[in-house]
Amino acid sequence: MKYSLLLLLFCSCTYNELEPDCNTEQIFTDSVSPIIENNCTSCHSQSGGVPPMLETYEEVVYAVDNFYLNQQVSNKLMPPVNNTPLTNSEIMIISNWINCE
Ligand code: HEC
Repeated sequence: MKYSLLLLLFCSCTYNELEPDCNTEQIFTDSVSPIIENNCTSCHSQSGGVPPMLETYEEVVYAVDNFYLNQQVSNKLMPPVNNTPLTNSEIMIISNWINCE
């Protein structure tokens, strides 16, 4: 299990070097992280107290893999009603990043 995770990380790094357009950590920092900070971490942070935590790259990747983050965003389930919804272009940025491999 640990080994296959390492292998996966290694493969995606190698792949990223070949595909500079798809450097997922860079895209996260430049484009995705500001959207999450503005719309999600009021709740999904240590201070907000609602799991899953979404304060770091690793936490967001974990939520993508284990908490259906992409579906939550694409189906407009998150942010919850009574909060400012994401714009379509923000949703696109997040799902393009998640689908980027
Ligand atoms: C106002 C507080 C609030 C905000 C803002 C918010 N969430 Fe949530 N989120 C919740 C609560 C409460 C739950 C758990 C209950 C539920 O699923 O409705 C949840 C659950 C989730 C889950 C887990 C779903 C599952 O299947 O377990 C994900 C992923 C998620 N949110 C992502 C996001 C993302 C991404 C954003 C920003 C675009 C966001 N949330 C903004 C309150 C919030």
